[in-house]
Amino acid sequence: LVAALPRRQQSILELRLYQGFWLPEHWVPGTIVFQRRFAPRPDDVVLASYPKCGTTWLKALAFAAAARGAHPPAGAGHPLRRLNPHDCVPFVDEIFASGEEAKLDALPSPRLMNTHLPYTLLPAPVTGGGCRVVYVCRDPKDMVVSLWHFLRRAKPDLSFDETFESVCDGTVAAGPVWDHVLSYWRARVARPDRVLFIKYEDLLRDAGANVRRLAEFMGRPFTAAEEAAGDVEAVVDLCSFDKMKGLEVNKAASGTAGRYRAMPRDAFFRKGVAGDWANHMTPEMAARLDGIVREKLQGTKLDFA
Ligand code: A3P
Repeated sequence: LVAALPRRQQSILELRLYQGFWLPEHWVPGTIVFQRRFAPRPDDVVLASYPKCGTTWLKALAFAAAARGAHPPAGAGHPLRRLNPHDCVPFVDEIFASGEEAKLDALPSPRLMNTHLPYTLLPAPVTGGGCRVVYVCRDPKDMVVSLWHFLRRAKPDLSFDETFESVCDGTVAAGPVWDHVLSYWRARVARPDRVLFIKYEDLLRDAGANVRRLAEFMGRPFTAAEEAAGDVEAVVDLCSFDKMKGLEVNKAASGTAGRYRAMPRDAFFRKGVAGDWANHMTPEMAARLDGIVREKLQGTKLDFA
């Protein structure tokens, strides 16, 4: 099941082919234990994403919406004003990797957790409908740009071309990206009551509408009183790019808890826009990646136009 990387060695991460996806070597043990041991609660929400597609934002929005009873979003003492979103919502497979399952047990319901694993690698009780899953995806061209900037924080001489080629041939963490997206898209088509699909670009277009969808999907729609009090807007504002990037905690050079502990917190807040690919790729590169993705997603109603 676990194979060595046959071709290009991705220059930052050791990758292993595991059940059809290239996983960083250090994800594999936690993935296996997660697959074997995770027992979902019916109101659990797994936030899933391909890396650099809006994980941090989704974690913040879901946390703010789910915890709004205990932590009013407009409140000065809100946890998201003093903690990075990755410190509010744990990476679930990382928890299993480090043997800290008690931390999961201690989370208040609805428990929020996240993963970069594709749907097909989630534990059988999850894919069997035992809890809810929210997936955020993004135009792969912008994902490549974001990934390159992120990886460069660890390896300053990494070239954009190398990152681009790795994405195009699938040998990148959790890749191939199109298979990752497809795994969740198929799940959402089969079980719309259990899998919510959100695009980063739609979040940019109308974050409020998506916060409402998110809250409803998690079983806690905003009440008329909350709507009248402006709570949806307060969640959006609390989690907005400028607000989050401006927080002292997110300017810190020190890392977050868990998987990204080696990365500075400000690495999660770069530009926060759609279309930055045009500043990094030639038209030929863009057409090539678009072509691959279009072909792979053929037959679905999914596109990134
Ligand atoms: P860019 O590098 O294009 O700016 P992830 O959270 O999956 O690692 O994705 C990181 C990307 O999401 C980065 O994109 C980052 O700037 C963007 N991002 C983080 N927080 C955001 C927010 N609150 N609103 C919009 N984009 C956000």
